[in-house]
Amino acid sequence: MAKTPDPASQEIDALLDERRTFVPSDAFRASANAADGAVYDRAAADPEAFWAGFARELEWIEPWSTVLEWDPPNARWFVGGKLNASVNCIDRHVRTARRNKAALIWEGEPGDRRTLTYFDLYREVNAFAGVLKSLGVTRGDRVALYLPLVPELAIAMLACARIGAVHSVVFGGFSAESLRDRINDASASVLVTADGGYRRGGVVALKQMADDALEGTPSIQHVVVVRRQAHDPLPVSMQAERDHWYHELMAEAPLRCEPEAMDAEDLLYILYTSGTTGKPKGIMHTTGGYLTGTYATTKWVFDLKEDDVYWCTADIGWVTGHSYLVYGPLANGATAVMYEGAPDWPARDRMWEIVERYGVTIFYTAPTAIRAFMKWGTDWPAKRDLSSLRLLGSVGEPINPEAWMWYHEHVGRQQCPVVDTWWQTETGAILITPLPGLTTLKPGSASRPFPGITAEIRTADGQKVEKGGGLLAIAKPWPSMLRGIYRDPERFVAQYWSQWPDGIYFTGDGAKLDDDGYFWLLGRVDDVLNVAGHRLGTMEVESALVDHPDVAEAAVVGRSHDIKGEAVAAFVTVREGVETSDTLVDVLKAHVVKKIGAIARPDLVLFAADLPKTRSGKIMRRLLRDIADGKALGDTTTLADPAVVAKLKDEYEDEEG
Ligand code: WT7
Repeated sequence: MAKTPDPASQEIDALLDERRTFVPSDAFRASANAADGAVYDRAAADPEAFWAGFARELEWIEPWSTVLEWDPPNARWFVGGKLNASVNCIDRHVRTARRNKAALIWEGEPGDRRTLTYFDLYREVNAFAGVLKSLGVTRGDRVALYLPLVPELAIAMLACARIGAVHSVVFGGFSAESLRDRINDASASVLVTADGGYRRGGVVALKQMADDALEGTPSIQHVVVVRRQAHDPLPVSMQAERDHWYHELMAEAPLRCEPEAMDAEDLLYILYTSGTTGKPKGIMHTTGGYLTGTYATTKWVFDLKEDDVYWCTADIGWVTGHSYLVYGPLANGATAVMYEGAPDWPARDRMWEIVERYGVTIFYTAPTAIRAFMKWGTDWPAKRDLSSLRLLGSVGEPINPEAWMWYHEHVGRQQCPVVDTWWQTETGAILITPLPGLTTLKPGSASRPFPGITAEIRTADGQKVEKGGGLLAIAKPWPSMLRGIYRDPERFVAQYWSQWPDGIYFTGDGAKLDDDGYFWLLGRVDDVLNVAGHRLGTMEVESALVDHPDVAEAAVVGRSHDIKGEAVAAFVTVREGVETSDTLVDVLKAHVVKKIGAIARPDLVLFAADLPKTRSGKIMRRLLRDIADGKALGDTTTLADPAVVAKLKDEYEDEEG
């Protein structure tokens, strides 16, 4: 059950009072892809016809007979239709003047560069699809991809799509154990990985991590290893029969591989994301609806034109990279920039250097990055030529208005609309967003639902809220919605469709509606953290901590962080006889990194004699959040003083009756 959100209402009210708004310029409006405001009403009147209009812009092998079959919570879009995602992202462009247009402009962190045209991509994807087939991969099989942000990752995804295999991308920052669990949950038969990747000058030894994972993955038959090394050879051990070099297989690969005719509802991919339990959920996306949703939103939200140079900075390990670095832009025949590494390597203007070098016109990033840019100062963007930029986007967490304004001024030179896009791994595509040629922007608000999307605010018990705060609900199905949680239909229903009956989707976010019908997102209302725009379950981190032999109990909460938005704070009680120390703090942090990955590393570990609990035994998270935020204790101590905890606990219990 969701708790009622605790809206930062005063802050938002203060912003509304300022009435700081940005109207699209005449020039932008005149050439925008979505320029007629009547589209909102038209789409609301007949959402199925609206989506079918976009679906018709894709290439179908067989047409659908019914746009939507909705038997809540099960949706089937474009029923009976057949298509292939790789054909839509590649082949149909190769048949046009886009044949030698850059599809991917890639830059590695060490400075190595590659450009792949649509025709290059066509050849690579055909070849790798043939390679996968030769390794025994057939329609419906799962293929795990554990790679740095290199073109081979996009190639492998599209090769899977070509032969009807289901890809499961595992972010390269996840640990061996996380990789192992994801491979096993999906019973993947092939793993594609790399010798390593580059991050902030260092090497991430992916194959070594994969080797650890592979000790416990009985389903894996073959491992394909991309040789990424840009300079020093990375030590890699190859197991005979099982492990193969990518380049060696590709040298033998056939030129062409016929695409499979996939049903619109065939699984395109699984992507694991964190939920409220210790176990990540395998979110399932299917072919026709997902492609329609990502195609449509990329075209309208980013106002994509033939000559744009579009850059989404997300890693493909997250859904943003799937939808807005691979499927959305390529389905639109766009030129997409891909950058492997850190924004401050070798210097803090790396992003702006890339914008300048390729003449990037559309730039899509996360608030956590923008806040880091702010901290680094205006000199870095100022010394680069950013005049090519015409549109900016934000995603991943609520963007604070200060960051919005900074982005607009120092990156966008006050010339670029900023689209704050709200969506989730589960929604597949952007659901709440401005349309840059139509929407008057309010910094801090994601504005209105995309046409055809019915977003609402509801109370926990289902009352519709016309104005004010509550829980964000999506009341009607949409094409790119998740079709389930892999091998866990019960959790699918419990997680998303049980808060309210009748097929109303529960997002897990709190939001507030203002007088103009604009949505202001307020963050998660469940036990899910948003650390630097990445989703992390508190229970996952707690499980990782109690896995350590010295730990008796652990409670994890989010702690405000000026760059990351939220950081992980862990309260730990140790087993009897264990001495608490700074060394143990480091040991426990390292243990979490080993179990989950660096993104989960606790910022703060506090030892407590007891975790504060209500009389019914529930951990008092709000109290812990206050302590972690320094409202009750300084940062200097690693000990949650029992007296302070006890006193606060009394106060909370009094307050909560
Ligand atoms: C959660 C989804 C979908 C892209 C990356 C994250 C938060 C996402 C916004 C935004 C406020 C946002 C929500 C959501 N979120 N975008 N523009 N404004 N909050 O995907 O890991 O599935 O996380 O990110 O809390 O539920 P994800």
